[in-house]
Amino acid sequence: MSDAWAAVERLGRSPIASLFETEPDRLDHLTLDACGLHFDFSKTHLSAAHLDAFAVLAEAQDLAGARETLFTGGLANPTEGRAAEHTAERGEGAAGSVEQARQFHARTRTLIDVIEAEAFGPVRHILHVGIGGSALGPELLIDALGRDAGRYDTAIVSNVDGAALSQAVKGFDPDATLLIIASKTFTTSETMLNAASALQWMQENGVGDPYGKVIALTASPDRALEFGVDETRILPFSETVGGRYSLWSSIGFPAALALGWAAFEEMLEGAAAMDRHFRRAPIAENAPVLAAFVDRYYANIAGAETRAVFAYDERLRLLPSYLQQLEMESNGKSVRLDGSPAGRATAAITWGGVGTDAQHAVFQLLHQGSHLVPAEFLACIEPGHTLAPDHHDQLLGNCFAQGAALMAGRSSDDPHRCYPGDRPSSTILLDRLDPRTLGALLAFYEHRTFANAVLLGINPFDQFGVELGKEMAKAIDEAEPESFDPSTRALLERAFPLPEGMIE
Ligand code: F6P
Repeated sequence: MSDAWAAVERLGRSPIASLFETEPDRLDHLTLDACGLHFDFSKTHLSAAHLDAFAVLAEAQDLAGARETLFTGGLANPTEGRAAEHTAERGEGAAGSVEQARQFHARTRTLIDVIEAEAFGPVRHILHVGIGGSALGPELLIDALGRDAGRYDTAIVSNVDGAALSQAVKGFDPDATLLIIASKTFTTSETMLNAASALQWMQENGVGDPYGKVIALTASPDRALEFGVDETRILPFSETVGGRYSLWSSIGFPAALALGWAAFEEMLEGAAAMDRHFRRAPIAENAPVLAAFVDRYYANIAGAETRAVFAYDERLRLLPSYLQQLEMESNGKSVRLDGSPAGRATAAITWGGVGTDAQHAVFQLLHQGSHLVPAEFLACIEPGHTLAPDHHDQLLGNCFAQGAALMAGRSSDDPHRCYPGDRPSSTILLDRLDPRTLGALLAFYEHRTFANAVLLGINPFDQFGVELGKEMAKAIDEAEPESFDPSTRALLERAFPLPEGMIE
């Protein structure tokens, strides 16, 4: 492997603009279409020689073998001793897992029918409590596709800050509210506290049987039962589906409810199309793999510490935060699968925003700042509204202009007005945003994240890094301040002074 990395590292770097001259067929090789996505990474520093060298690295890292392990339910997550089977939720995976996912989906669908038949009385509000992967996916789907659906008022509450929950239920009629508790483990303290407070809110506002309005989405059905959720309202999913890969499972329930089952199924189909593309397309035409080459080039060869994603589409405004969890929780690691040091930068820091807003806030740094930031622009050809075409013309015009300006730059005798240029970007252009293309887009990012991990030799499916903070928070909760450093103790004493007269 180190030979293959050394071969990539040895290659020189030419200005992007010059690559269009030296590689006349560059657009043919560095743009491709897959599952409704047009991916253009021609405005990056990757040359044909880089693509060849990365392809050799992919082979040295046995990307094809790792991919088969993923798709056949093998031990893709060895540090936790299990498979990673989110693709089975979309129908692409080991036969038994696909069948189990199909049965779980059927259960979800039945419950949606029951709700729509008003078995819970007239439901107008959905209160979903969950955090991380148990919130970000459904929230993104509903925000992106549910703006006109208007079936239910849905609030997704993740933060344990009570301000989030109390704001969310303002204007909700507790009698017409369903409470969804989403937690893979059904132990996450923020979610459990929010769930308890939501139940209390229902009770205090006259709901006779608040537990009768609870639906649990979890891979730990026993814990949900113990919590008091009726068995018929527990929607399970497999332990082998990771939290940040779980929106395809019953965790997507509020989205399926808000958008309708047909739309949810189309989203699964869009993702399945991307699964097949990733599994079968040769490397030179494989969108997630090529995107991972871009990521590795900037993180490992060019030394970029971050990557920025800008959605030139209001409906995708939550995509950057969704990707932050997907990419940073998956690949924010420092050791390889065998426990040895990773030896090179792993996940870049993902950040971003929405265009055109971000142009007036952070783009200064992209154009003239001292950091190299590979930018990624996303846009849809079809607008998501019916206002005058000027809006969309201006939006897309701005999106394309930014990529062009970053690359071209402009010289000036005045150093303050000089744009160095040669700054990289890639563009993902969707014909339209619908359940199918959004499914394909999110699956594209999942597989890109996986391909990055394989190139690095790390495990993208565990997240031990989040455990220490959780343990320490528990220690604070259980009043063990003496186990903390002086600074933390002083903060604790200031925030939680001991009642007068009490000696520690
Ligand atoms: O703390 C990290 C994490 O475990 C994420 O991976 C996960 O998406 C989130 O917490 C929520 O976990 P759960 O669904 O078990 O409540």
